[in-house]
Amino acid sequence: MSALPVYNDPNLLVGIDTGDDAAVYKINDQLALIQTLDFFPPIVDDPYSFGAIAVANSLSDVYAMGGHPLIALNIVGFPIALDKKILQQILLGGSDKAHEAGVLIVGGHTVDDVEPKYGLSVTGLVKPGEHYANVGAQPGDLLVLTKPLGTGIITTAAKADSVDEEILNSAIQIMATLNREASEIMVEIGGNACTDITGFGLLGHLERMATGSNVSLKIHLSSVPVIPGTWQLLEEGIAPGGTHRNLSSVEKSVEWDSEIPFEGKLLLCDAQTSGGLLISLPHQKANELITRLEQKEIRASVVGEVFKPQGSPIQVVQ
Ligand code: CO
Ligand code: CO
Repeated sequence: MSALPVYNDPNLLVGIDTGDDAAVYKINDQLALIQTLDFFPPIVDDPYSFGAIAVANSLSDVYAMGGHPLIALNIVGFPIALDKKILQQILLGGSDKAHEAGVLIVGGHTVDDVEPKYGLSVTGLVKPGEHYANVGAQPGDLLVLTKPLGTGIITTAAKADSVDEEILNSAIQIMATLNREASEIMVEIGGNACTDITGFGLLGHLERMATGSNVSLKIHLSSVPVIPGTWQLLEEGIAPGGTHRNLSSVEKSVEWDSEIPFEGKLLLCDAQTSGGLLISLPHQKANELITRLEQKEIRASVVGEVFKPQGSPIQVVQ
């Protein structure tokens, strides 16, 4: 992307420069469009679950902007020789999840491919000025995470058949959960910045937030919610290649407390699929947010704090 020319437009409220996963384009003073796209190969064997997860993940980028997704288009790659019933199940899982979100899938496009791929291009709405971005975190804010980490590690273990079904099922359920309610409550309470945690892992997404907001962030490893079973897999040496790559790419921005084990570093960099929202907001609001989320059975935690820039953009303590 850095090799491409950048064309500015006064109506483009969020573009490619902040590294957000969705663009926000102002139509008039009351209305802005949110546009985003995501697709990927199966991360779980069950085609219905894969479809549901892919859709929850695609819609998440609209929720992270504080917006409402409206309509979407399917993007599908599928091997022509494979049983069409598998494709049907993928699309059904996606369709049911979109319906749950109140989003209409209004069409799409399929190409022959060596392995299946699925996702959505999503169009949403937000009021201009009320949209969220991954910049805007303020010194004194707390950082709230709305889903536990570990989906990259667990799905990697599942590919090697070395994870309990119960653990895998809880990861599937977490990935298929919409970030809709978390986003709606965030918008009601009011926050300063938001991003969803996906492929770059918690620290990768926080690095963008720290740099873009010109702040330093302190993360408490022991406060970070983790899907049960993840630590054991880490201790067995299981982590996806993307997680290791995330760790090497954030190293330069992170100061680790000497007590942080290597497994803890990997966990904080684990490449997530359809992860939670990471919301930066003032102290009192953070407590209110967590209480309100708990009422909806969303397990959210304060994972860190925001400071004036000092030293490394991110400090990780036990
Ligand atoms: Co995305
Ligand atoms: Co995203």
